[in-house]
Amino acid sequence: MELQPILDRIGAAMAGAADRGRVADYIPELARASTVPFGMAVVTADGRAHATGDARVPFSIQSVSKVFTLAIALGRLGDQLWTRVGREPSGLAFNSMIQLEHENGIPRNPFINAGALVVTDAILSGHAPREVLGEILRFLREAAGDDDIHINRAVAASEQATGHRNLALAHFMAAHGNLVNPPELTCGTYFHQCAIEMSCMQLARAGRFLIGGGATGPRLVSPARVRRINALMMTCGHYDGSGDFAFRVDLPGKSGVGGGILVIAPGRASIAVWSPGLNEQGNSKLGTEAVEWLAREAGWSVF
Ligand code: DON
Repeated sequence: MELQPILDRIGAAMAGAADRGRVADYIPELARASTVPFGMAVVTADGRAHATGDARVPFSIQSVSKVFTLAIALGRLGDQLWTRVGREPSGLAFNSMIQLEHENGIPRNPFINAGALVVTDAILSGHAPREVLGEILRFLREAAGDDDIHINRAVAASEQATGHRNLALAHFMAAHGNLVNPPELTCGTYFHQCAIEMSCMQLARAGRFLIGGGATGPRLVSPARVRRINALMMTCGHYDGSGDFAFRVDLPGKSGVGGGILVIAPGRASIAVWSPGLNEQGNSKLGTEAVEWLAREAGWSVF
């Protein structure tokens, strides 16, 4: 199967799409983004890369970073992590607070904001934020095989100045004894991890370790963990839009409010797509359409 012509068709259609969604406006620095860019990159299990559109332009990975911090935390703590965070879809918005109150400050899963804060808190434990951010960047650079991956300090500062909801989530979990570090420290680290910038090409390459099945690229986690991280991406990676994404795309994926999505076709490929306009659930509108199209044409599905 020739992937490049499929990507070329998708790229051309997305460049001309009229309804491009709306950019996230609750982080001032992201509100300035344009809905014009569209990029997509695919790295197959044999290491070959294909791209279309703005696939080499860095963007704010935001919640896509949660996949990588989860991998790091599982490597550090193993199954002990699951005493502090669940593995169930939330069916609610990524920044929702309401379940936490009924569920003793234990977030439903590691991909909603509350869960990701616990994961970052677990990695942070006893270390300086700078060291932990260095570790996250090292992991990403090794996964992508590319050292040119950095944090956008202006985006981190912008979220730091306005991130009251995340601070509220962190304080609430601290009240339940489910945060080890001061909320400001955990949130500060989390805001910086979300402000990491990568291009579709870098992100698709960084996702290779989740393809499994003998794919090329560094083996950063065990095969059992690869399956579990993919299972969580499938069930929880798009928040209250997770069912719809699974229904349409048939593949595990993790979105971010910067408009990026990392999608894994197990045994076959790692896919990254970026278009800053979002749908109602805060996931890239054209990005979802593009991976739905690619998965159908390539015949990639976990079912
Ligand atoms: O914590 C936040 O709200 C952002 N830094 C990340 C949220 C996000 O990317 C949600 N994904 N669609």
